[in-house]
Amino acid sequence: MSSLARRRFLGLAAGAATGAAFAQSEKPVRIGMVGVGHRGSYLLTTLLDLPDVQVPAICDINEATLQHAQDVVEKAGRKRPEGYSSGMEDFRRMVARDDLDAVVTATPWNWHTPVVVAAMKAGKYAATEVPAAITLEECWELVNTSEQTGSQCMILENVCFYRNVLMILNMIQQGAFGEVTHCEGGYQHYRGGFSPNGDPTWRTMFSVSRNANVYPTHPIGPICWWTNVNHGDRFTHLVSMSSASRGLNATAARRFGPDSPSAKRTYAMGDVNTTLLRTEKGVTIVLNHDVQLPRPYDLGFRVQGTKGIYSNTLEKIYLVKEGAERPRGQAEQWEDLDPYYRKYEHPAWKRLGEKASKYSHLGGDYIELVQFVWAVKNRQPLPISVYDTATWSAITALSEQSVANKSAAVDFPDFTRGKWKTTKPVQVREISL
Ligand SMILES: NC(=O)c1ccc[n+]([C@@H]2O[C@H](COP(=O)([O-])OP(=O)(O)OC[C@H]3O[C@@H](n4cnc5c(N)ncnc54)[C@H](O)[C@@H]3O)[C@@H](O)[C@H]2O)c1
Repeated sequence: MSSLARRRFLGLAAGAATGAAFAQSEKPVRIGMVGVGHRGSYLLTTLLDLPDVQVPAICDINEATLQHAQDVVEKAGRKRPEGYSSGMEDFRRMVARDDLDAVVTATPWNWHTPVVVAAMKAGKYAATEVPAAITLEECWELVNTSEQTGSQCMILENVCFYRNVLMILNMIQQGAFGEVTHCEGGYQHYRGGFSPNGDPTWRTMFSVSRNANVYPTHPIGPICWWTNVNHGDRFTHLVSMSSASRGLNATAARRFGPDSPSAKRTYAMGDVNTTLLRTEKGVTIVLNHDVQLPRPYDLGFRVQGTKGIYSNTLEKIYLVKEGAERPRGQAEQWEDLDPYYRKYEHPAWKRLGEKASKYSHLGGDYIELVQFVWAVKNRQPLPISVYDTATWSAITALSEQSVANKSAAVDFPDFTRGKWKTTKPVQVREISL
């Protein structure tokens, strides 16, 4: 790392620790977008709703998709962005522009790290849709590039900014759960998996080739915040097991006939992957990946500490009442969340919740982008560090190794290189733009 890069990197990190108040800059935030399909176009329209955000350039390999996104920006009353669509690596020309502060990518997974690394090398802030990386090498590349250049990147893990997730964070930080020793969560979302013509979608192509938890970050992001992973604790190891793979064949047979190519294809990915992780301080975490069997959506969060339990599936909580002995014969009873929201609503949600709830993913998208844009605008640390970004994404490659080796234990790399010991618990800023 050059001395200038090191000063920038350390200076930014120190800002995070002090939590000092910073003057609001009046300059616009100029963002270049890469990949404006289903998700990218939603991020784009949300960003355009934020004050002082400009989008001077957009890249998408699909020209019709690109033009639609350019039209969206123009219709929002901004200058038509310059378009980049000359092949898979055209984003490299775009990130080199000198009129961009940040680059946001929502391409398929295999392009996330290449885009983010190119953006950081060009001196830009970078944000990527989930997961940030699909191999361990990519995870390290994110960390190394950030440290060497002094540039920052974050994973756009919107679930971290959900109302319930932030309230539970606030409760844990105020000691309401006592010491947390166990959490569970999962990406449990039946995705169908096929285009209308019967071909696998690009996501389902990962089910053809990989047997792993390929989408770990929606549940593990919040769980790491709740359990201080990289912020006073760290993952030591995991074990992982996958069920047989039957769901995609059954879905394709139902939709396209039993003799269709997708019904007959062999899929590597088991229907339900279960990964069990342990931390240095003894927290255990059960993580599920469950996208191939028919089921309603559920992130399945469960948080357990010495004073009680929260269940996101039941939308209930149970906490022991200090000083009150349980009456003989009376079992513990689940409680409604409403009184807890009144007492423990996170300040960031109090500030923005009304506006946020008009946006998708329960408002998490809005809060996440406000936090990102604010940090870029004020040249401050991003709300999710590169270390968290790499750690959460690494579960794909590590679970794959364990599954392939009869669920053998796999050591978890310490992407922080020891900094987890002194990094403070996450503080989500109470800010607006
Ligand atoms: N956070 C969330 O809640 C959430 C929700 C949906 C999707 N996602 C994530 O968003 C990402 C995109 O998913 P999607 O459903 O929008 O997919 P999509 O297929 O609709 O969009 C991807 C876009 O990227 C473009 N693209 C592909 N390769 C490119 C390249 N090399 N350079 C430039 N453009 C390229 C495609 O043309 C397409 O327009 C994925 O990582 C997905 O996991 C996140």
